[in-house]
Amino acid sequence: MSKKILVMPGDGIGPEIVAEAVKVLNAVNKKFDLGISTDEALVGGSAYDVHGDPLPEVSLEKARAADAILFGSIGGPKWDTIERDKRPERGLLRLRSSLGLFANLRPAILFPQLASASSLKPEIVSGLDILIVRELTGGIYFGQPRGIRVENGERVGFNTDVYNESEIRRIGRVAFELAMVRDKKLLSVDKANVLEVTELWKEVITSMAAEYPEVQVSHMYVDNAAMQLVRAPKQFDVIVTGNLFGDILSDEAAMLTGSIGMLPSASLDENRKGLYEPCHGSAPDIAGQGIANPLATILSLSMLLRYSLERADVADVIEKAVEQVLEGGLRTADIWTEGCRKVGTAEMGDAVVAALG
Ligand code: IPM
Ligand code: MG
Repeated sequence: MSKKILVMPGDGIGPEIVAEAVKVLNAVNKKFDLGISTDEALVGGSAYDVHGDPLPEVSLEKARAADAILFGSIGGPKWDTIERDKRPERGLLRLRSSLGLFANLRPAILFPQLASASSLKPEIVSGLDILIVRELTGGIYFGQPRGIRVENGERVGFNTDVYNESEIRRIGRVAFELAMVRDKKLLSVDKANVLEVTELWKEVITSMAAEYPEVQVSHMYVDNAAMQLVRAPKQFDVIVTGNLFGDILSDEAAMLTGSIGMLPSASLDENRKGLYEPCHGSAPDIAGQGIANPLATILSLSMLLRYSLERADVADVIEKAVEQVLEGGLRTADIWTEGCRKVGTAEMGDAVVAALG
């Protein structure tokens, strides 16, 4: 095969963590003769600094041409006050939307070695394996109208939460299919007691259940789901929800595993072309210090191989290598506990490469 991966390091710790994932990519490319070629493109604040646009046309064109995208992180205080449409986050949102990456898969898996890094008791989280399926190109993130206007002498901020039936059905299908290859349990999260848009969400998901008789479907309001996630997270298998609730719940689920620095994600289109990025942000407070955890990005690479390149065998090898490194007691600062060896970003990446065998 000959596959093109576009590397988009972005801002903050993005370049540091992506560099480690690229080391792993180069190693497996060689070891398994994958025939992968890579290219690089600017995105976010770093693209704005050069092109005056967080997603310049040249970057979008490269993204369209690639089979998959490995993405770091974007944003930082430096760009928080520039014109809203030019902010780094808008670049990422435009990329997701332009490529039709509507299905965001965010697994929250607890590596047994990290049970003590979780803020919850080990017995509550041990063996945790949840998959959040977040709708990524609709809802309040993209709904019109939106903005800040002046009314009666004061400013009014407004956004629109909107989903049509086909958008709900499309993400519902992804979630049902994934539930079928997992524990066959699907939770749909809404706020149907207050918001009409999620009342429709609940109705559509409910109507799909008949097509998947083996899947046990349940529904929860988002406030209850947030509570249940910290009370008894192991009751969940696949969770499907809209863009905003998915954003919030996936950070919460990630933290159950000890550190958001461990969690990868995939954002897929209808044909499984995807953008792969860590769930965490650009962490400007620690950027440039060489202490960020590269494992979420390395695990994102593993998802890339699994979903977009259909090389589950290679993905397994990477995941095993990560586990072996954790087993050996290496920890970046965010997951460090007494008795383990604290390492920096590059040392962690090198250790994963070495563990590939
Ligand atoms: C995420 C991030 C993004 C989002 C931001 C950076 C726009 O929080 O991927 O979860 O809200 O989707
Ligand atoms: Mg988020």
